[in-house]
Amino acid sequence: MKGALYDAGASPLERFGLLRMRRRAWAAVPASGLGLEIGAGTGTAFPFHPPGARVVATDVSPGMLAHARGKPGVAGTLLVVCDAERLPFRGGIFDWAAETLAFCQVPDPEAALREIARVSRPRAPLVMLEHVRPAGWLGGVADLVSRVTVPLWGEHFDRSPDVPLARAGFEVERRAWLWRDVFLLLECLGPGRKPT
Ligand SMILES: C[S@@+](CC[C@H](N)C(=O)[O-])C[C@H]1O[C@@H](n2cnc3c(N)ncnc32)[C@H](O)[C@@H]1O
Repeated sequence: MKGALYDAGASPLERFGLLRMRRRAWAAVPASGLGLEIGAGTGTAFPFHPPGARVVATDVSPGMLAHARGKPGVAGTLLVVCDAERLPFRGGIFDWAAETLAFCQVPDPEAALREIARVSRPRAPLVMLEHVRPAGWLGGVADLVSRVTVPLWGEHFDRSPDVPLARAGFEVERRAWLWRDVFLLLECLGPGRKPT
């Protein structure tokens, strides 16, 4: 039910331009290797997974992932219910990671980014598509809206991933605004191996 509601709500946005943005984000993901999708939700991104890649799609919500099971592109994707802040994987096994519109809900983005860095090989690519807090007076509106949406369903409109990315040791290689100064595509590289 939760997944069906999400898809119904997102559908106008997908037509408005979100689908185009997703396509652009997933085109930045490496074409092969073992990939990790964070906060996969109802599996809207599955058709964009690189055909040659094996992908583990994760989400904290069993309801959302249950809905993802029926999505096109699910074949060959392993679905795992888990919290991005505590990933149930060994260190260094993923070749890349990607997320779309999940870090606006993850309670502690820095903790999740540290987990992504832990389970990924050194300097592995991370692609993020997020809506961020806009500049100017719209930023104030985003702060006000977040006061309502965060308690209701954990959605932040008042965030930017830059500080948590830097704190978790990621380097932003490329950034592109996909819609105004709200939808941001970030292509990052994870931290190198820590000296032993
Ligand atoms: C706005 S939806 C985006 C879903 C999908 N990525 C998309 O682009 O349509 C945010 C998703 O993040 C998931 N999420 C929130 N907190 C999470 C966490 N701590 N760990 C993993 N997933 C989380 C939610 O369950 C939800 O499915």
